[in-house]
Amino acid sequence: MEQDVVRRGRLTGERSGEMMHFLSSMGADRCIADADILVDIAHVLMLSRQKIIGKEQAGRLLETLLELYENGIPEAAFDDRFEDIHAGIETLLIATIGEDAGGRLHIGRSRNDEVATCIRLRVRDDLVRQLSILIRMREVLLDLAGEHIESVMPGFTHLQHAQPTTLAHHLLAHEAAFARDYQRLSGALSRVDWCPLGSAAFASTSYPVQREFVAGLLGFQGVLENTMDAVSSRDFALEVLSCLSIMMTHASRVCEELVVWSSGFARFVELDDAFCSTSSIMPQKKNPDTAEVMRAKAASVLGSATASFAIVKGLPLSYNRDLQELNPHLWRGIRDAKHSTRLLIDMLSSATFNTAVMAGEAGKGFSTATDVADMLVQSHGFAFRTAHTLVGKAIQKGALDIPALDQAAEEMGIQPPSKMGIRDEEIAAALDVRACIERRRAPGSPSPFAVRISLSSRRTALHEDLRSLEERMAHYAESVRRLISDAKKEVGK
Ligand code: ARG
Repeated sequence: MEQDVVRRGRLTGERSGEMMHFLSSMGADRCIADADILVDIAHVLMLSRQKIIGKEQAGRLLETLLELYENGIPEAAFDDRFEDIHAGIETLLIATIGEDAGGRLHIGRSRNDEVATCIRLRVRDDLVRQLSILIRMREVLLDLAGEHIESVMPGFTHLQHAQPTTLAHHLLAHEAAFARDYQRLSGALSRVDWCPLGSAAFASTSYPVQREFVAGLLGFQGVLENTMDAVSSRDFALEVLSCLSIMMTHASRVCEELVVWSSGFARFVELDDAFCSTSSIMPQKKNPDTAEVMRAKAASVLGSATASFAIVKGLPLSYNRDLQELNPHLWRGIRDAKHSTRLLIDMLSSATFNTAVMAGEAGKGFSTATDVADMLVQSHGFAFRTAHTLVGKAIQKGALDIPALDQAAEEMGIQPPSKMGIRDEEIAAALDVRACIERRRAPGSPSPFAVRISLSSRRTALHEDLRSLEERMAHYAESVRRLISDAKKEVGK
């Protein structure tokens, strides 16, 4: 078995298996192994173009790298005796094509700029995937909202019946939050998408490297200019994990509602069996386990973010090996967020909303009392606070009708509503749940009128986001395609 080519000069002595495992980043490096091959290919193309290495050596390197790209990296390169996948691949290359060619791969670079580039490449792909999931999430929420413009339900504050709304309005609230997550993550992507290569350990290199050229080959927007910043900074990872934590917080709140709404108390929603579990003892049980696990995954993603912040915050510039320990948190956070949101889409689209139960609950708990107060203000000249007190006192007596209001007015020492010409029908109209929703027509409100307007502008925003995401994805795919075809051309394929 080959020795790690990076260690063999300066260091001697045997290391225990435990020691090697402790130091190696191999586990997490599986996430960046494919990116590493692309980074190697781009680097070799640049070395060759700049005549830093000869055509012949470049050709041999590229042939082997293309072979790894096409057929996969052999398991041997992932052995723990290599500190990381970069050392694993370089060792493998040298063993395959000899040191004269293989030993030139690492000219003018360090694992520090190499790993930072690999992480950014992989995160770029992950973000694009997460953005597509968010597009689909928003689409599902908008479609569901479109089906439930007229589905009346109670809205809650403090989990108490507050005011009536519609299911569409409620779902649009979640869509708005996910749309902001989309914006945040796409902002994060625009800061991930910069290339550290050419920075080497931190002080760049004396070879005439062409940083812009490599960045272009890998489809980056450009180079991260300061070479010390390029290898030391991980704020892009912290930003991604922060954005994902916020997104997962939103997912978790949806889950919490699905748990509450599917309970025997509410029965607002019936989740598809696939997303539920039963009890090993109570045969009747149908538990919303997927939503519960997802709620907890939000905590795990936040944990990944917290651990990553803690790793970075105490580090002096430039590279420190602590940074290696951030990567597993990053990959885990990204993976948990992806799985959760993907499943949430299916959980939502397969759920059955019990609109009759919701409608039956909508008017409970004097949920339209605000409208009675507003009627007193709008039609009878009350100050809002006086009307609010009057209605509150009537409700305290257990009713919202003329006798209760009169009694309340007497206690307050004001003219009784019956003497002011306030009629039962006016109160009934104010209390009517549907009428109450219809009256709320300002932008973003629950009335079907306002919801239709919202739906249409949300759909326009969604299509715009989808269009620019597709453009970005096409650019990334095209840059990989071009990189590989350039490499093939170089070796005469
Ligand atoms: N495995 C390392 C990481 O993930 C690669 C960089 C190693 N650099 C070093 N100076 N030891 O960060």
